[in-house]
Amino acid sequence: MDRRDILELCRTPLRLGNRDLATRFFLAPLAGYTHLAFRTVLRRLGGLGLATTDLVQATMLWSESRKSLELVATNAEDRPLSVQIFSGRTDDLVKAAKWLQDHGYQGIDINMGCPMAKVNGAGGGARLMCNTDGAVRMVDQVIKSVQLPVTVKMRLGWDATALTAPQLAASLENAGVAGVTIHGRTRAQGFQGTVNRDGIRQVVQAVKSMPVIANGDVRTPEDAITMLQETGCAGVAIGRGAMLDPWIFRRIQRVASGETGNTDPTSDEQISFLEQHFTLMMDQHAERSCILFRKFAAWYGARLGIPDDLEDRLRRFETPGEFAEIVEQIRERHGERACTIPTALLKVPNGPVEHW
Ligand SMILES: Cc1cc2nc3c(=O)[nH]c(=O)nc-3n(C[C@H](O)[C@H](O)[C@H](O)COP(=O)(O)O)c2cc1C
Repeated sequence: MDRRDILELCRTPLRLGNRDLATRFFLAPLAGYTHLAFRTVLRRLGGLGLATTDLVQATMLWSESRKSLELVATNAEDRPLSVQIFSGRTDDLVKAAKWLQDHGYQGIDINMGCPMAKVNGAGGGARLMCNTDGAVRMVDQVIKSVQLPVTVKMRLGWDATALTAPQLAASLENAGVAGVTIHGRTRAQGFQGTVNRDGIRQVVQAVKSMPVIANGDVRTPEDAITMLQETGCAGVAIGRGAMLDPWIFRRIQRVASGETGNTDPTSDEQISFLEQHFTLMMDQHAERSCILFRKFAAWYGARLGIPDDLEDRLRRFETPGEFAEIVEQIRERHGERACTIPTALLKVPNGPVEHW
């Protein structure tokens, strides 16, 4: 496809199972970051087609642990949404899927990409890619037990010698999966190296008509366009790129509709993003938000160019009133420190993947 066709594709909605999504650009789950408040404020910026919750352990979900219920907390504005579950046991996945259906959720995503030892050791996450027949049987049981669309998020395979994604995706399509997301790295790679778009293309070529959502290293609208062009994928999921630049989904739509010129958010828009994020966290967590919000202080500091002393106060404030005062000062002193795109603030594990 030439660039004009790709731009048109970017403006075209995507059907995924029984859902019509306004755009084909999704938020990839980032455990610890893509919570309800962050998803909601991203949605308000426009251009986001689908968001998925952080991964939730299936047993913890159907047994309604407090932490799991927090992870799947949602509301009418937080749509369309899929809930991502993981387990190495079919009965747990089935129970969690039924729980989600009974509680009014609209989509289920099964994690087959997580490289963490804790998840893989119990047979879940990327470990499922080592036994593709078993993985397909498992997903088949989930599909048969609910009416909700079921998607799967996976990597290219366990390691370079076991690139099972194309075969697994084709079998999952036959089982009735609504779509798959492929992070173009193996489990052994962790987050190392660059994403393998050729590997993603092989998955696209292995399926008949099921949408394949490509994922990995998309940081700009041009990266998203390249991903569509080089892989032939139906859509793109963006994780870290949305943390670096929450306006990326809106920017993609602007580029797709031929808008040229500055697509940067104004300083008012950026400060409003900060305020909304905190207010939405208050809706869910009340005063505890003052503590939960601290982990975003450095991110906002860099993103909004918040003077160091105010960034420091964002890390220590104790009441919503204090937060409001800090925001007032951020507004007044905007421009004192240069805005930079934060890079190192979203930590990915490093060292040998076996120890994660
Ligand atoms: C901090 C962090 C948490 C993540 N949590 C999840 C998760 O809960 N479920 C999942 O499927 N992938 C998770 N991922 C993987 C991302 O969804 C995505 O596949 C990966 O970061 C590559 O895409 P990106 O370059 O757009 O971030 C996580 C990644 C990071 C860095």
